[in-house]
Amino acid sequence: MSAPSLVTNNSTLSNTALGYENELIKLFTIAAVFWGIVGMSLGVYIACQLAFPEFMSWQQSWLHFGRIRPLHTNAVIFAFGGNALFATSYYIVQRTSKRKLYSPYLAWFTFWGWQAVLIGAVITLPMGMTSTKEYAELEWPIDILIALVWFSYAVVFFGTLINRKTSHIYVANWFFAAFIITIGLLHVVNSMAVPLSAFKSYSLFSGATDAMIQWWYGHNAVGFYLTAAFLGMMYYFIPIQAQRPIYSYRLSIVHFWALIAAYMWAGAHHLHYSALPDWTQSLGMVFSLILFAPSWGGMINGVLTLSGQWDKLRTDPILKFLIVALSFYAMSTFEGPMMSIKTVNALSHNTDWTIGHVHSGALGWVGMITIGSLYVLIPRVFNRKSMYSISLINRHFQLAVTGTLFYIVSMWISGIGQGWMWRATDTDGSLIYSFVQVVEFSHWPYVGRAFGGFLYVSGMFIMAYNFYKTVTATELQEDEVSETQATHTTSA
Ligand code: HEM
Ligand code: HEM
Repeated sequence: MSAPSLVTNNSTLSNTALGYENELIKLFTIAAVFWGIVGMSLGVYIACQLAFPEFMSWQQSWLHFGRIRPLHTNAVIFAFGGNALFATSYYIVQRTSKRKLYSPYLAWFTFWGWQAVLIGAVITLPMGMTSTKEYAELEWPIDILIALVWFSYAVVFFGTLINRKTSHIYVANWFFAAFIITIGLLHVVNSMAVPLSAFKSYSLFSGATDAMIQWWYGHNAVGFYLTAAFLGMMYYFIPIQAQRPIYSYRLSIVHFWALIAAYMWAGAHHLHYSALPDWTQSLGMVFSLILFAPSWGGMINGVLTLSGQWDKLRTDPILKFLIVALSFYAMSTFEGPMMSIKTVNALSHNTDWTIGHVHSGALGWVGMITIGSLYVLIPRVFNRKSMYSISLINRHFQLAVTGTLFYIVSMWISGIGQGWMWRATDTDGSLIYSFVQVVEFSHWPYVGRAFGGFLYVSGMFIMAYNFYKTVTATELQEDEVSETQATHTTSA
């Protein structure tokens, strides 16, 4: 493939010259850090509830685990992750298309509309209003608002791409485009419901069909939201920070199509040994195993972008975040296909092993690629030369890695232990361990997980402080430099 070279003259790309929409991105960035702290603190709170139930048994129903857990997942995925994705996708699509955002009014609507959705979640979930569908718990009026915001997002993003002044669509935008189309489709289909009142509805689907639709949604929320979209960040910010083009542009395109083609078919691995037809479960397993290849292809492409410049990893904590994120991506996309094998899933399903897998993806991959990307983005979008303190980024990195490791190792111990204890039987076939013994076994791993979460969220507070000091510093950077050559001049 010939190397597309879209931009050669940096001076034509200054913020001022092209009038990029930056104010909106600033707000999305602030919102991402704010909600990150809120969502992860809620994670620490529910982790403490599981570790110390006797101390955390409040009488108020709205503080119970069952109410706050969905608030945690909504806050980290849709508030922290969502705001970060809006910020980065709007930032990237403007720079790579050399165009201001299409329809600024709609773009601003996506900001306020999205925050309204999140506030709706903060109010309704603790009140116990839920559709009961995991990662789609919000009731129908909020679902309609989500659909409107998402449609507006699509208009702004694709409008900007269509108006682009460049001949080429940079690969990061392909990933964002797939994310926007797919999440819109998944959300609309999975949320179809019959409303009983303003606060209660029932799914249009029932039985095994409902389960299949839910996990088609749930798995592709992982595939297109928690994976493809964050790969969009990866394909832009690693080259920028490494000051090199992506290792292989050809591989990035193969990565894209292979990932998109395989993800849609794998959702049934969430429903092994259920009422779903057996062949559907096997199909889910096979496609999950296939997914390993494109996932690792993309990971290798990101990591090899640093070829010949590995020494940067010693000195640049932002690159450390970005590259370590890819290592956790590699780990969770190896672990996932293994867990989709039916015999392995018989051990892992319903145990903390799944929770460990989720958080190696969530804290290690999604969290760290976002944090790294925001550290690149913040000084650029606020026109500062660099972040206020590099050593604080280093401290943040240490806390994030240690916190993630505490979390996932604790969950492996707890989860694999639970799996074996639940299935251990005597020679006469009776269970060796009572349920309470298994719960007791998990106590110390739960303490370890809460501690890991505490470390991780402490890092987020350091980030917020560093962010604040960066923004209030007076030094201004005049132009956006350097990033153009890295993303627009590609190699093979
Ligand atoms: C300080 C960091 C965090 C802590 C302490 C934490 C803690 C927890 C806890 C205790 C649960 C409930 C587990 C259970 O029901 O047994 C949970 C669930 C979950 N968390 Fe987190 N979390 C953190 C960060 C995150 C982040 C950043 C994300 C996503 C980007 C995330 C996504 C999820 C998801 C998807 C679930 C549901 C898992 C499932 O149902 O299998 N968490 N978290
Ligand atoms: C090749 C890629 C992957 C495959 C094949 C895969 C496979 C699996 C499997 C088999 C389960 C357990 C289902 C169960 O027993 O209930 C699971 C759960 C989960 N995975 Fe993955 N995984 C992959 C990557 C990821 C990544 C990168 C993330 C996050 C960023 C992630 C997030 C989740 C979540 C949130 C769940 C829990 C869903 C729930 O029960 O609530 N996965 N995955």
